[in-house]
Parts: sequence; C-alpha cells; structure tokens
Amino acid sequence: MMEEISEKENNRPAKRKKLERIAVFTSGGDAPGMNAAIRAVTRAAIANKLKVTGIRHGYQGMIEGDFVPLNARDVSGILHQGGTILKTARSKEFLTEEGRAKAYENLKKACIDAVVVIGGDGSFTGAIVFTQEYDIPFVGIPGTIDNDLFGTDYTIGYDTALNTVVEAVDKIKDTASSHERIFFIEVMGREAGQLALSSGIAVGAEAILIPESSQQYLEMEKFLNKGYKVKDRSGIIIVAEGGETGRSIKIAEKVAKEHPNLDVRVSILGHMQRGGTPTAKDRIAATKMGVAAIEALLDDQQSIMIGLIKNDQIVHVPFSKAVKLEHNIDKDLLHILRIINI
Ligand code: F6P
Repeated sequence: MMEEISEKENNRPAKRKKLERIAVFTSGGDAPGMNAAIRAVTRAAIANKLKVTGIRHGYQGMIEGDFVPLNARDVSGILHQGGTILKTARSKEFLTEEGRAKAYENLKKACIDAVVVIGGDGSFTGAIVFTQEYDIPFVGIPGTIDNDLFGTDYTIGYDTALNTVVEAVDKIKDTASSHERIFFIEVMGREAGQLALSSGIAVGAEAILIPESSQQYLEMEKFLNKGYKVKDRSGIIIVAEGGETGRSIKIAEKVAKEHPNLDVRVSILGHMQRGGTPTAKDRIAATKMGVAAIEALLDDQQSIMIGLIKNDQIVHVPFSKAVKLEHNIDKDLLHILRIINI
C-alpha cells in the first residue's frame, strides 16, 4: 500500500550540538551520479562554513577509520564521472555490535557531528541501527539504479542505467531481427521491476517480466502463441533480475522447451548497467539532493532520506519508511503497456 508522506516530516531531536564537521560516504552498489552527490554535499557544507570528511569504502571504512579531508577543490572534475571517488562496499562487520562500536569511536575521534550516507535500502538500514545506538545524526541520499525506495520517485543512477539498457537492447534488436530470434534480456533490480518496466516500454518489448505483476507472463504466452507468427519473427522479452541473477536463463529454457519452433537466446546485461557517465537528469537530481541533505542537517533533521516527488519537489522521508514500505511500481506504465502491446 502506498502511504502518503508529508512534504517535510519533522524528525528533529529536542536539542543538538552545533554542527562543525560532517562526513559523507557512499555505500552498497555504486550508481552513476554518486560523485555528483558527493560534490554537492561537500560544497553545500563548505558554503555553510562546515568542515567535511570523506569516508572511504562505506561502513567498512568507518570501522577502519579510512577518512580523508574534503575541500571544495577535492571534488572538482568528478561531476561527470561514474562510480564513486570515495569507493563503496558492503560491510559484514558493521552488522555486528563490535563493528558499530569501532565505527562510532572513529567518528568521535575525527570530531564528526553528523553524517550523510549515499546509498540504497541496505545503507539506510545500517544507519537506522547505528543511530538507535549512538548519538550521531544521519541523513540519506537515495543512490541506486533500482529506484526501489519508498517515498521518492527518483533515485540517483536510475536514469543513466535506464539509458544504458535502452542503448544495449537497441543493439540486440538488430541481431534479434536479422536472425529472427526471441531474446530474453535480463536487467538489474534486486526485488524491483521499475528499471525493467521503463526500459521495456522504451524499447518496445513484447513482454516485460517483473516481480510486481504476473499479467506479463500471460502477455508473453499470448505473444509466443500468436503474435510471433503474424509479426516479425523476432521479439524482445525484458526480464527483471528480481534478486536472482540468471532468472532469465530458467525462463528462456522453459520457453524453448515448450516452443521448439522458436530460436531463443538470453542476454544478461549485468554490471554495465551500474557504470558510465551520469545523464544530465542524474547530475541535477544528485546536486539538488546533496544540497538538500546539508540543509536538512542544518535544520536539525536526522534519520531521514531526501526524496524527490511531484515534479522534483524535495521531501524528507524517515529512513524507517524509505526501507520498509513497499515502493509501488508505476501503475501508469503498466496501463500504457496493456494498450500498446496489442
Ligand atoms: O542495488 C543495485 C543492484 O544493482 C541490484 O539490482 C543487484 O541485485 C545488486 O545491486 C547486485 O550487486 P552486486 O553485484 O554489487 O552484489
């Protein structure tokens, strides 16, 4: 169920120490535009007379004290670069109490008053646990190609990944058409079909298999049984990974068995979807959210994710909602799909 969120929820503590130094880090899977967010956070902090520390290698770097000072010029020339200059990681040690205690000690030693975390649901879940135990406020910026967080229409990296998928599928379509083949193309999206749905619409896929709707399996069957014979003898089926890399192989094998007349191939796009130069949309969103994160901290907010909704309006979403509530798939796109794929 989609739950409404207010424009800016109040997550302020009763009283807080004046901010002097903030830290910023990236965590979880990298996403194009993370560098743009690091740049915006750093410069917005400095513009507000705060000092900035970069934490390298995500939560693991926090545990190991892998810190670097950041000034305005340190983040020059990175706006257009994919990946993250601060590196990223998934830390098992941070899941332990001992790991988090070490992280806290290091943050204290480095005189860090507040932290900006750029990442996805795992990164914000880490922040929830940490801030329940320790008194350092965290604010989050959604950075993931999956676009699967509740309370924001948009996550940094999604637009770039979408364009990467479209470019790749357009190329595969040439082969599909020349050889009259059915291609199953698997795109990323842990438990979310948003990237698959949008890219499928953009490339005119015959069916888009996403975890959020079983209807598309029927559409695929319809196409394989009927559409395929009357149209061009080629087709593109987009498959959302849905947390199981290689899911498309199983589906394709089943289809090949049931339809021995078809020439079936699989293409898993994989990590190429996470790299590359961020699009203008990702750079602008990252910059806007980076500035908003610092403004939120200066306004004594904590444990919230910055989100963009309704024509890119900034909203504050409590971490607990961002990671726990269901991110609804774009129903308009599903509706459009039913009309278009006749
Ligand atoms: O969070 C983004 C994402 O790309 C997911 O869609 C995917 O399941 C996962 O990361 C894979 O990440 P990794 O290969 O880094 O473990």
